[in-house]
Order: sequence, then structure tokens, then C-alpha cells
Amino acid sequence: MIAESLQRDFNQHIQFEMASSYLYLSMAAWCEQQGLRGFGNWMRQQAEEERLHVMKFFDFVLDRGGDVRLEAIDAPRHEWESPLEVFEAAYAHECEVSRRINALVDTVMEVRDHAANAFLQWFVNEQVEEEANVSDVVSRLRLVGADGRGILLIDQELSARTAPIPDPA
Ligand SMILES: [Fe+2]
Ligand SMILES: [Fe+2]
Repeated sequence: MIAESLQRDFNQHIQFEMASSYLYLSMAAWCEQQGLRGFGNWMRQQAEEERLHVMKFFDFVLDRGGDVRLEAIDAPRHEWESPLEVFEAAYAHECEVSRRINALVDTVMEVRDHAANAFLQWFVNEQVEEEANVSDVVSRLRLVGADGRGILLIDQELSARTAPIPDPA
């Protein structure tokens, strides 16, 4: 069984991960509209990865005998000034995800739900990687500044990102 308060917090987090997926999809569209298909590809894969995060929480709540309640998702932002602004916004978003995961860990420790704590540790580690991946792109975009050739070079690199592989069930 899962505590009522945890079920509520986990459902809220399902919504937040889905909103993350939606945001990255919106960023993918913007990038591709600028002719930056590599950045678009990176964002499409990121959106897919967030959907896999949704499913991890979804399965966990169900496996614990909880009730999954999907909430409405607000329309994400759809305009940015530059690829740098997109990735800075993505970085800020990932930091907010990390903050929320940490808050969830605090909650599960308070109610002494060890299974939920073990489950969340995967996300604690994942967020280190998520922040690093985005911040790496931000750094490189800052280096090239407004240089179009530099941006296209990064775009080409990001086109290589492949689809995330779901964990075996
Ligand atoms: Fe996520
Ligand atoms: Fe993420």
C-alpha cells in the first residue's frame, strides 16, 4: 500500500514529468522551425525520455496498489529568442525537477516508505545526468555566441542523439 499523502505527491509528479515532456516537445517544434533539426532531434528524444519517467511513476503507483489520477497539463511556452535561451530554460527546468525529486525523497523518508525511497534514488542519480547534459549544451552555445557556423556545428552533433531505451518490464 502507498500512503494517501504519497499517492497525492506522486500523482502530482506524474503531471510534472508529463508537463516536462510537453515543454520539450514545444522546444523541439521551435528549434525545427528555425531550421535547427539537430536541436529539434535532441528535444524530441528528451521529450520521449520524460514520457518514460512518467511511466516509471505510473507503474510504481499502480504496483503499490495506489490510484493513478491524471491531471490537466497547461500549454507550454512556445517561443524563445535563440537556441541558447531554449537550453537555458531547459536547464532551469531540470533544476526544478531535481528540487521536486529531493522534496519527494524528504517526504518518503518522513513516512518511512523504504520502497518509495529506493525507487526515487534512481531519479536522484538520473537528475545529476540530466542537469549535466543540458548544462553541457548551454556551455557550448555560450562559447559560440551568435556565430551561425558554431551553432550549426552543435546542431549537427545533437542530431546524433538516439531514442532512449525503456527499462525492461
Ligand atoms: Fe524527468
Ligand atoms: Fe528531465
